Amino acid sequence: MRKLLMSAALIATLVACGPSPTPQAEAPASAPASSTPAPATPAAEGPSAEQVQAALAALPAPYNAANYEAGRRVFAQCRSCHTIEAGAPNRVGPNLHGVFGREIGSLEGFNYSQPVQDANFVWDAAQLDHWLQNPQTFLPGNRMAFAGVRNEEQRRDLIAYLMVDSAPN
Ligand code: HEC
Repeated sequence: MRKLLMSAALIATLVACGPSPTPQAEAPASAPASSTPAPATPAAEGPSAEQVQAALAALPAPYNAANYEAGRRVFAQCRSCHTIEAGAPNRVGPNLHGVFGREIGSLEGFNYSQPVQDANFVWDAAQLDHWLQNPQTFLPGNRMAFAGVRNEEQRRDLIAYLMVDSAPN
């Protein structure tokens, strides 16, 4: 009997101060019909593989034949300065969410250089292709300290990746 009591006490102690934060403890956060109708879907992690394939296929040529994964890897060169997710903060460069169809230098709250403020066009694949080839010759005096992506195929993959991942949905 004493032994039994002791083990009960031991168990009680373990339960009380063991490594307790079990997933169960957080269950209320994911309770159904909670107050946050937030996207319960991969939004934060990027689109699913199927969504990517569908989005890629819908792009104009040559981007529909691009390699999304390769493009995502090229974007690693941009990430130190740019976010791409919706609502993500600006870094050294402006957030690129929804950049296609956006007037150059128009993101609210980002302090663009004068040449970018003075430029007057809307970002599309062709403009971006020129910009990324060599930002300095494309728009002299801008503040994007980046040599460019010289390889045409890498630019194609990168732009396709940007079209898919920066798209407002
Ligand atoms: C060293 C930091 C840095 C890197 C790396 C960089 N950028 Fe930028 N980018 C900037 C800055 C700063 C600006 C704003 C330029 C200005 O105002 O003169 C900018 C502007 C832009 C713009 C114009 C945005 C707008 O709102 O008009 C695009 C598009 C862009 N970058 C794409 C890219 C892509 C794609 C890559 C990777 C291949 C990249 N950048 C790499 C710093 C960077």
